[in-house]
Amino acid sequence: MRRKLVAGNWKMNGSLAANSALLASVNAALGNDVACDIAVCAPAPYLAQCQALLASSQVALGAQDVSAHETGAYTGEASAAMLAEFGCRYVIVGHSERRSYFAEDDALVAQKTVRVLQSGLTPIVCVGETLEQRESGKTASVVGAQLGAVLAAIDAARVADIVVAYEPVWAIGTGKTATPAMAQEVHAQLREQLTGCNAEQGAKVRILYGGSMKPDNAAELMAMPDIDGGLIGGAALKATDFLAIIAAAK
Ligand code: PGA
Repeated sequence: MRRKLVAGNWKMNGSLAANSALLASVNAALGNDVACDIAVCAPAPYLAQCQALLASSQVALGAQDVSAHETGAYTGEASAAMLAEFGCRYVIVGHSERRSYFAEDDALVAQKTVRVLQSGLTPIVCVGETLEQRESGKTASVVGAQLGAVLAAIDAARVADIVVAYEPVWAIGTGKTATPAMAQEVHAQLREQLTGCNAEQGAKVRILYGGSMKPDNAAELMAMPDIDGGLIGGAALKATDFLAIIAAAK
């Protein structure tokens, strides 16, 4: 049985005051026996603030991106080792917004994944098809290639150290959600690919669903056999919604 993971992706939202209020509400509402793992992936400038706010919390800290390089003359970049120093446990890699707005390709995403693993952190590897790709029957090949590039770059003995997030691009921030059956179909394919790489470890990998997950659809999505949690954008910015999704993750 895989323990579920509910991870908030704040994207480029927040402020010192808003982060403090949001995490205070979340921390106050969580009891000691939370049934799932929880994380928030904050914008880089707020990692130190969030590290302090989460010091004695059940909520782990994550980052939203990382450099593919280890160190050196890469202006504007933050390395995996730096993220680790600020208490990050998770790092999102290959989010569709990075892929589409910042031209990140599968090879770069794979390299970032390697860096995250090297620093002892857990990459949340995002895959997902556009509406056009779905409508032309390419979903399986697109997500297969995205995950395949990552699996080819990492040591097969470390497959269990990654988290995968299936985020259909057409569902992100749009209010359109994949039905549980549609999502499960893709998750099952991803599971097969993971177990094909390493049978024992692939069965342990958490595959999150992301794309307009909300309190009113979270439970039915996470009831599917291969949906092991959620990567939550908009709903992670409201404490009540984020908490309701956490409560749905059993
Ligand atoms: P959303 O975003 O929940 O706002 O659709 C999810 C994501 O992009 O990770």
